[in-house]
Amino acid sequence: MAQNENGSADVVPTTAPTGAVVGTAVVPADTFENPGLPPHRPRIVDLDPKKKQRAARFVVALFWVSVAGSIAAVFAYMFFPIESGNVEDVRNNTLFVGLAIALSLLAIGIAAVHWGKAVMDDKEGVDYRHPVRGTEETRARALEVFKEANEESGFSRRTLIRGGLIASLVAFPLPAIALFRGLAPMDVDPNDLLKHTMWKKGLRLTQDPTGNPIKASDVTIGSAYQIIPEGLVDLPEHEMLDEKAKAAVLLVRLKPEDLTWSSEERKSWSYDGIVAYSKICTHVGCPVALYEQQTHNLLCPCHQSQFDIANECAVIFGPAARPLPQLPITVDSEGYLVAMSDFTEPVGPSFWERSTS
Ligand code: FES
Repeated sequence: MAQNENGSADVVPTTAPTGAVVGTAVVPADTFENPGLPPHRPRIVDLDPKKKQRAARFVVALFWVSVAGSIAAVFAYMFFPIESGNVEDVRNNTLFVGLAIALSLLAIGIAAVHWGKAVMDDKEGVDYRHPVRGTEETRARALEVFKEANEESGFSRRTLIRGGLIASLVAFPLPAIALFRGLAPMDVDPNDLLKHTMWKKGLRLTQDPTGNPIKASDVTIGSAYQIIPEGLVDLPEHEMLDEKAKAAVLLVRLKPEDLTWSSEERKSWSYDGIVAYSKICTHVGCPVALYEQQTHNLLCPCHQSQFDIANECAVIFGPAARPLPQLPITVDSEGYLVAMSDFTEPVGPSFWERSTS
């Protein structure tokens, strides 16, 4: 190996296995020999034929244990019938049939592994990888076939047919795009539909799913509530689900001094440390409902976006592009929590015509 006077490696021409000089390469100064594979060590069963016999008997025994397990599963099914519908019978049936099948499978698995490791011949071999690239003949033939196909089909020659084919393939997905229109009613602008929710001034915050209103004094520090608008539970089911998908809110109480606000107006949207944020993730709309009390973080389980409740639900991790919208809240004369207005921005995933109006 060549080294210069500074002790570093020299740049030397290298030679390809074919003997041709292919350029230069840095020869590292600390190359070492490939140690190869460690020497083969015989197993205990290879040294002692009695032990090998014992291992073989053990494998056979395990296979028969598996047979016994399978038969036991059939008997368990007969001895614990589920036809009565009685919970106790169903539980016993599930338990004993499950145990017997598990025993049967486990025994087959252990027997197979033990057979391979202790009874089968212990030979070591080396499989060399073959080059993935095809041979020159194969590649030439592939090119030939491609050219033949082009020639026979006239793909390059027949421009009208080719144009028609491309046009039909481009047009084919269009119905799918048009069908998306059916996701929103025809008589309502989809943008309006997404921009507004059921919340409005004076509407009480109620617990999901009971619909019971909630007083500020009932919300203790550190607690979190799933909230829906008052009256939602009285809507027809399909309407209720549509509205709930947009209006669901998570209510949390923190110490007021733990909350930071970008403006006095935002601060007035909370009540004595109680804040309400949309539960619909701004990434692709999963419910964000995992609240970590110590860090005040909200986690969306779908793609792990995290929002900092103490800081206006700013995104601190993950693919969500904007904070969870805040629902301005206050209390009414009876101390119940009420909304001050609808959300001031669209809830849920961002969409192409989103604006804050
Ligand atoms: S939907 Fe919440 S992170 Fe993707």
